[in-house]
This record gives sequence, C-alpha cells and structure tokens, in this order.
Amino acid sequence: MKLPRPRGKLSEALVADLTGGRALDHAGDPDGPDDLHLSLWMLYELHYRGFEDVDDRREWDPRLLAVRAELETSFEDGLREDVGEVLAAADEAEDLVSQLAAIASHEGEASVSQFLHRRATAAQYREFLIERSLYHLKESDPHAWAVPRLDGAAKVALAELQYDEFGGGRPDRLHSALFARALEEAGLDASYGAYVDRVSWHTLAVNNAMSLFGLHRRFRGSAMGHLAAFEMTSPLACRRYLQGAQRLEMGAAVEHYFDEHIEADAVHEEIAARTICGSLAETEPELVDDILFGAAACVHLDEVVARHAIDAWTAGGSVLLGGDTSEVA
Ligand SMILES: [Fe+2]
Ligand SMILES: [Fe+2]
Repeated sequence: MKLPRPRGKLSEALVADLTGGRALDHAGDPDGPDDLHLSLWMLYELHYRGFEDVDDRREWDPRLLAVRAELETSFEDGLREDVGEVLAAADEAEDLVSQLAAIASHEGEASVSQFLHRRATAAQYREFLIERSLYHLKESDPHAWAVPRLDGAAKVALAELQYDEFGGGRPDRLHSALFARALEEAGLDASYGAYVDRVSWHTLAVNNAMSLFGLHRRFRGSAMGHLAAFEMTSPLACRRYLQGAQRLEMGAAVEHYFDEHIEADAVHEEIAARTICGSLAETEPELVDDILFGAAACVHLDEVVARHAIDAWTAGGSVLLGGDTSEVA
C-alpha cells in the first residue's frame, strides 16, 4: 500500500519522517480530526500490512511509538467523554449480557442501514462500500490481537469466532475475501487501503478505535466489548444492507457478503457477548467497565459515521473526500 496524502502539518511531517525525511519528535497539535486520525491510522498500519516505501523496522521505532502514544491519549480522552450517552443505556440492565444488549440497541438519530435499505442510490451504496472497505479488507484482524491476551473459555470462544471470520479453513471464504469480491463486483478497487485518501476522519476513527483496543493489553476487555457490540448490531443492519443491495441490483457478491453475515453474526453475537465477555468478566471482574467502554465506543463511533453520511447524502452531496464516486470506479 502507498502512503496516504497528508491532511495537515502532523500527517505531512509523519509522511516525511516515514520516507526518510526530517525526524518527527512530537505529535504537537494536529490540524483537526482528519490530520489526527490519518496520522494515527498510518502509525497503526505499520503493525498490519505496512507501506511500500516504509522500512518494516519502523513498526517498533520508539520515537514513532511516542508520537502514537500522544495521539492515543487525546483519542482516548475524547472517546471517554463522548460515550457517556450510549453508556447510560446500560444503566438499568442487571447483568453484563443485558448491559451489552442495551448498548447495542442504542438508537442514534441517523441509520445508514435504513437509508441504504430504502433510499440510497447505487452511487451512495458504492460510497458505503468504499468507506467500509478500510475495515472489511482486514476484517477481524484488529480483534485478533486479543488472542494471546486471553485464556480459558474466552480465548477458546474468540478462536472459534475468528475461525469463521478467517474462512473456516478455506482462503476463498475469508470474510475479507468475500468483501473484496463485493467491491470488485460493484466496480471498485479491492486492493488493501485503496481508498484511504477518500474516507474522512469519521471512518478512520472507527478503524483506529479497533486498533487502539487491540494493540494494548490494558484494553483487552474493551476489545472484546467492542467485538460484542459489533456482532450484536450486525445481523439487523446486514439484513437491511442486503435488501438495499437487492433493490439496487448491486450484484450477487454484494448480496452474498451481507446475506452471509445475517446468520453468521447472529451466532457470533452469542459467542462474543455471552461466552467471550461473560467468561472474561467472571475471571477478571475488574474488566467489566472496560468491556462496556469498548461496546459503547463501537456504537458511538458508528453513530458518528452515520450522522456524517446521512447529512452528506440527504444534502445531495458525497460522503467521500474529493466528491462523488463517478470518478472513483
Ligand atoms: Fe465477518
Ligand atoms: Fe462476525
């Protein structure tokens, strides 16, 4: 993957540093959320697939890790402030699974799945696939960081869930490969990270939250709470995405991806909420607040993305940076 285009002084300095230019010492004050989240996303990608022009050894460069830590602190602080309303949905619930269910069913005022189901045009549907490609082309990778950080029933259940996400023994069944086929069928570029320059900070933040939780052992509870909320909100949304794809005749591979997830994620939500989070809370009860924080972060950031998308689409505009998809495909 190529390095993305900078979006401010921090991402510009980071790209310069990664390509052998002047060393970056501090994050300083990023030029707004696009600059912050793109920089954080680049630093996280060093742990996934890396970049063509960047030495793989930079993954563990202490200077870059220090910059990353600065950005993570401001991201985490902001998230903790912002999840309050979603988290409050769990107040009345009595046990952890009901608390997770209450968080997962928190309704924001905007719903992408409802919009795609009934109102979206094919161009808007393609924009949705583009935004989602950032995550789905590495589907389940961020949660895999948690495997060595868990033990017992939680570890076994996470491995069971991920066996499915990672193809159940068949490379052509990797969920990331199913999504790549959906992108191709929609006439889009299915190469990893192809659209990073087109997605706004809202989508980058969704991805960064998963990496933040996955890459820090202290956030193992939040990583699993995030996974639970992700799976619990998925079956209903995927049913609507499927119906939208059928209405717009997006093609068999697009339909197949979402159809597959209606049933798969109904199983995954049970595994994630009850077995993974449930066992984790039993063996490490001090992690319950972290589990709920991760779940609330997932739902809150989904709402942030949804509000941004629906505002753009209902105003007749594009959710993508640089305009609509006519020149994307
Ligand atoms: Fe999946
Ligand atoms: Fe799943």
